[in-house]
Amino acid sequence: MSTSLELRVVPDPPALFQAAAEQFVTLVGSAVRENGCFTVALSGGSTPKSLYSRLATDDRDQVPWDKTFFFWGDERHVPPDNPESNYRMVYEALLSKVPVPPGNIFRVPAENPDAARVAESYELALRQFFKVPPGSFPSFDLILLGMGPDGHTASLFPGTAALKDRSRLVVANWVEKFKGHRITMTLPVINQAAVVTFLVSGRDKAETLKEVLEGSQPPDLFPSKLIHPVNGKLNWLVDRAAAAVLSRTRA
Ligand code: 6PG
Repeated sequence: MSTSLELRVVPDPPALFQAAAEQFVTLVGSAVRENGCFTVALSGGSTPKSLYSRLATDDRDQVPWDKTFFFWGDERHVPPDNPESNYRMVYEALLSKVPVPPGNIFRVPAENPDAARVAESYELALRQFFKVPPGSFPSFDLILLGMGPDGHTASLFPGTAALKDRSRLVVANWVEKFKGHRITMTLPVINQAAVVTFLVSGRDKAETLKEVLEGSQPPDLFPSKLIHPVNGKLNWLVDRAAAAVLSRTRA
């Protein structure tokens, strides 16, 4: 177990997205040099939208789009044209604006009403792309994550069944508060990544961020605590508002 953790506090959201974009471009460059391609699992929600927009504009010419392969760390159980869809958010902010070959985009087929089939299908797509047999886990070059005010990440919500799954790559996770499923990559997949970067912004996340980074509550109540890349790098990229109540030595 050798996770290296780096916490970086930047002044404000623009600085956050600039730092995240710089990291993205750097990681793309090194992955393409080493392996000829770059694999990234994107996070959803609202925070990363500005990063995706930046990549489509300011950083557009620094990314070899034809060598970049896009996946989603989690998806809502809705069709791709639904306003809740993480795919739709990324498509509108980034994919519709840059020359990524359609074959490089691995969308979660969340339009299928059978959530378990969605998860199975996405797992198969991952296994085929990364050529990993049952019992093995793919290693993404980068997995981007957000953190909810309840400490969830991806769609690994407190107290949900997905937190315990150590064999599958992707599961349909029932989330009682939504009275619905979320499709999510599991902890073994996320923790197999070469680099995991949390992007956290805003004062509403501050108490949760303090608990996740410094507190002693059970990890199942704050699933972001369960992210420890086994042989990778864990970055917490946060703005000053989110870091407001971290102990002095950190912020
Ligand atoms: C999702 C995300 C989720 C998100 C957090 C933070 O599908 O919503 O993957 O894990 O990252 O909920 O969301 P915000 O960035 O909108 O606060």
